[in-house]
Amino acid sequence: MPIAPFYRLMASQLRRPSGLLARLTGRKMNESNANMYRLMLDNFQLQAGQRVLEIGFGNGKFFADLAAKTAGLWLWGIDFSPEMVREAARNNPDLIQRGSLQVTQGSSDRLPYASGMFDAVYACNVIYFWQNPEAHLAEITRVLRPGGVFYTGFRPRESMQDMPFARYGFTHYSTGEWQGCLERHGFRVENVVQVQDPETKVGGINLRLQSVCMAARKLG
Ligand SMILES: C[S@@+](CC[C@H](N)C(=O)[O-])C[C@H]1O[C@@H](n2cnc3c(N)ncnc32)[C@H](O)[C@@H]1O
Repeated sequence: MPIAPFYRLMASQLRRPSGLLARLTGRKMNESNANMYRLMLDNFQLQAGQRVLEIGFGNGKFFADLAAKTAGLWLWGIDFSPEMVREAARNNPDLIQRGSLQVTQGSSDRLPYASGMFDAVYACNVIYFWQNPEAHLAEITRVLRPGGVFYTGFRPRESMQDMPFARYGFTHYSTGEWQGCLERHGFRVENVVQVQDPETKVGGINLRLQSVCMAARKLG
């Protein structure tokens, strides 16, 4: 396959894994995004009994690590790919059976949850796909309790520029640009951690990418 159509296909799978390639895309993301999830896990401030939502969980492999790190969390997940919802259910039978995890299909600009329901919300590698971040951030502030925290995991602009598929339909943010966006939409950014990952294979290319974890508290 010529190179541009290949990268376009990859970009559309990353935005919304679908069809025959969905399961493979989920597995590849587990490899390429493991360091970012580890960074998120190291920076979460969560306690037993809290309610936590992940937006855009891919195949949901990370829920088990989070549940193991902080016992007694109540977890929810929403992803707009039906294939990823199915994969996440398949990958987490125990958590779902004991009522600790609920996964749902839907989009982060129309969250099917009550206002003030969550102590924390997180999204890892999802903000690039939001065409109007204000609509998604408005929903996230609505479902967070006062003082609740939104954690964003993402690769900053300089890393996105190293990934050829990220030219197709991704919005790139520098760390400062994303911080500014959060601060214009109802959050106070309290912690920013930016690290260089070890070399990782992404889309067949070995890259040394940066990962950012940004913690932003809902104002009011
Ligand atoms: C690049 S993947 C990231 C998956 C996983 N979080 C990771 O970092 O490996 C983006 C995921 O977010 C989902 N997604 C993208 N936009 C979304 C939206 N507006 N609402 C819900 N899910 C979304 C996609 O279906 C996909 O599973």
